[in-house]
Amino acid sequence: MRDVEGKVAVITGGGSGIGRGMARAFAGAGMRLVLADVELEAAGAVAAELRQGGTEVLCVATDVADAAAVEALAARAFEELGAVHLLCNNAGVCLEASLAAGADDDWRWLFDVNVNGVRNGIRAFVPRLRAQGEPAQIVNTGSFNSLIPTGFLGIYCATKFAVLGMSESLRQELAPDGIGVSTLIPLGVNTRLHESQRNRPAGQAINPQHMNASVEAIRAGQDPDAVGRAVLDGVREDARFIFPDGSMLEVLRAQLDAYLDAMAG
Ligand SMILES: NC(=O)c1ccc[n+]([C@@H]2O[C@H](COP(=O)([O-])OP(=O)(O)OC[C@H]3O[C@@H](n4cnc5c(N)ncnc54)[C@H](O)[C@@H]3O)[C@@H](O)[C@H]2O)c1
Repeated sequence: MRDVEGKVAVITGGGSGIGRGMARAFAGAGMRLVLADVELEAAGAVAAELRQGGTEVLCVATDVADAAAVEALAARAFEELGAVHLLCNNAGVCLEASLAAGADDDWRWLFDVNVNGVRNGIRAFVPRLRAQGEPAQIVNTGSFNSLIPTGFLGIYCATKFAVLGMSESLRQELAPDGIGVSTLIPLGVNTRLHESQRNRPAGQAINPQHMNASVEAIRAGQDPDAVGRAVLDGVREDARFIFPDGSMLEVLRAQLDAYLDAMAG
């Protein structure tokens, strides 16, 4: 989608981190925005910042794990802004847990948000984007953990491998409709991801392991605003994959070589 000025972007998890970075980049390119987040106050703070620059922003309290809430988000976005051209299924959560000992609620929560959240976005928006019949793009936020597994992030890896699978399949399904699909594959980004459990559903126990081993990689990570700019570039080019940080190229090459070597026998 080369021409983004005046177009409408919906960003889930738009109140913090990478979602906020996308919002800033899209606003800078003249887009109109819908910020969907469970933290309405955080989305409101981003909206207040961007409105000062003249950007039109609608904030919608949305739990992406709730299909009805995402359906209501889509209805409201089309009703109040008249169109949607870019959907960023970005909201996601993370925690460390061993695969053998991860609690049922840990599995349920990560799959509800990271996998069903993307599914809910696809289900609510794709029929409307098709009916609209204009150029459009969907960006699903995966992770380097969509490609490279990490011990004690196994549940998260399972969800992010799933996001890549859905995203790549969706790209094939929507090509005839002129709707592009990109997968965003960030490495470490300096966000509040290590504090994901702040948004656990009421009544769920907090996993005491949090993100103890990963917190330094996150704090030392990329500026989320740089990730947002990379996403904007990717949207303009209908990039299949958006890699905002190329520093782990050799790690990925070794992983791919392992597949190729095994297959070649
Ligand atoms: N930070 C990293 O190092 C990194 C690396 C790779 C991928 N990612 C991915 O980037 C995405 C954004 O995370 P971030 O790093 O910006 O973290 P973040 O915690 O700063 O932002 C996540 C946002 O999602 C919102 N959110 C959480 N649960 C939600 C729900 N159920 N419904 C709607 N909104 C919800 C939060 O309120 C928050 O505003 C996630 O999908 C994450 O997995 C992050």
